[in-house]
Amino acid sequence: MTTPVRLALLGCGTVGQEVVRLLHEQATDLAARIGAPVELAGIAVRRLGRDRGDLPVDPALFTTDALGLVKRDDVDVVVEVVGGIEPARTWLVEALRAGKSVVTANKALLAEDGAALHDAAAEGGADLYYEASVAGAIPLLRPLRESLHGDTITRVTGIVNGTTNFILSAMDATGAGFAEALEEATELGYAEADPTADVEGFDAAAKAAILASLAFHTRVGAADVYREGITEVTAADMASAKGMGCTIKLLCIASRGPDSTGTESISVRVHPAMIPLSHPLASVGDAFNAVFVEAEAAGQLMFYGRGAGGAPTASAVLGDVVAVSRNRLARVRQASESAYADLPIRPMGEAVTRYHVSLDVADRAGVLAAVAGVFARHDVSIATVRQSGRNDDATLVIVTHMAPDAALAATVEELRRLDIVRSIASVLRVEGGS
Ligand code: NDP
Ligand code: HSE
Repeated sequence: MTTPVRLALLGCGTVGQEVVRLLHEQATDLAARIGAPVELAGIAVRRLGRDRGDLPVDPALFTTDALGLVKRDDVDVVVEVVGGIEPARTWLVEALRAGKSVVTANKALLAEDGAALHDAAAEGGADLYYEASVAGAIPLLRPLRESLHGDTITRVTGIVNGTTNFILSAMDATGAGFAEALEEATELGYAEADPTADVEGFDAAAKAAILASLAFHTRVGAADVYREGITEVTAADMASAKGMGCTIKLLCIASRGPDSTGTESISVRVHPAMIPLSHPLASVGDAFNAVFVEAEAAGQLMFYGRGAGGAPTASAVLGDVVAVSRNRLARVRQASESAYADLPIRPMGEAVTRYHVSLDVADRAGVLAAVAGVFARHDVSIATVRQSGRNDDATLVIVTHMAPDAALAATVEELRRLDIVRSIASVLRVEGGS
């Protein structure tokens, strides 16, 4: 056998521990697939004394000096499963500039400053792989950056956050409110102690930025993604969705097409949306992820599987370890970042979709006409109106035809100022179907 591939593992938590286990359990097969054994050179953690169960690894490998480990001459590949922006960025830039291959699951860093990593990889002639950063175990980034490179991707629509999908699926199945469903997700270990990144859509927005960058050959960062979380989705919204033959999902939607001036551009957004039950993403339940890709020649493709968890994520990490190790042995590297298209980002106001608007209004003559007049003034065409009454008040549920987001926002703003409108209970986008 040839010289071993020496690996520095940064982080040994949920994902890192499963990486260690898989490296141990599959050592023989990995060596056969790569053409050289993989050896752990060291494992960087924050707390040396932390109980890590019965990990099959020499305790002497643990260190708190991640940078020192990255810089060691006997390290060929750096696997980063720590997370966050710093110090991970410093470690990975150091590794890449030194020509070491990097495998990372760090979507937050890739979305915040992927440019720093790609530039360092180009500088050092090194591989940068990050399949685990989006949708965990699902092979998705490699299809986007390799298999579909001969095609033009027009749209990527996905459920890329397991925690929020679990919460929304529970709300749909049981009629529970958001708080109750979040409590269940926390008890079952899906939601973290601080669920902000998931429920406010930050995690999905980071993944959307990574997907859009690969799909459209354009650098897209977290700041380019329009983001709304699911904290405002109510049991009443879910019931209303059901009444329309729909459910509500937190979607990431990245699309390309002409903007209002005809310039080819891209739009990337993350927000809850109603989708018809017939849509392929509607049946994606629990904490599963799925991504629906539309390309000019390939047509429609669907990727489905476990988007989170130690073992599924470690599976994607190990796939990348095999790829970069083989590249090292063959003295080649993957094609560098493809960002040649450099398409402009369309503002959210130009995103065109349908809307479900729920209003509490006074129930008297002329109210419906006044409300309809506001929609008409902003050129938002109404598709359906449903009214249910309660004494002097009524709830109006209006579903529109396709309209630009800016027009809908202006409509809602004017509705808010009408004295006959007691409150705007919710505004939800409606995707899929016609
Ligand atoms: P954990 O919080 O479980 O583990 C983080 C690890 O990093 C711990 O071992 C911790 O050390 C170590 N660490 C933290 N700070 C430092 C530091 N300054 N120096 C050295 N080590 C440090 O995170 P996860 O395993 O859940 O996630 C890791 C990465 O994978 C993140 O980028 C995450 O977004 C991504 N990811 C996670 C998924 C999941 O399902 N968990 C799915 C897809 C991606 P110690 O053990 O001593 O505390
Ligand atoms: N918190 C993320 C989720 C982990 O719920 O999907 C996977 O990235």
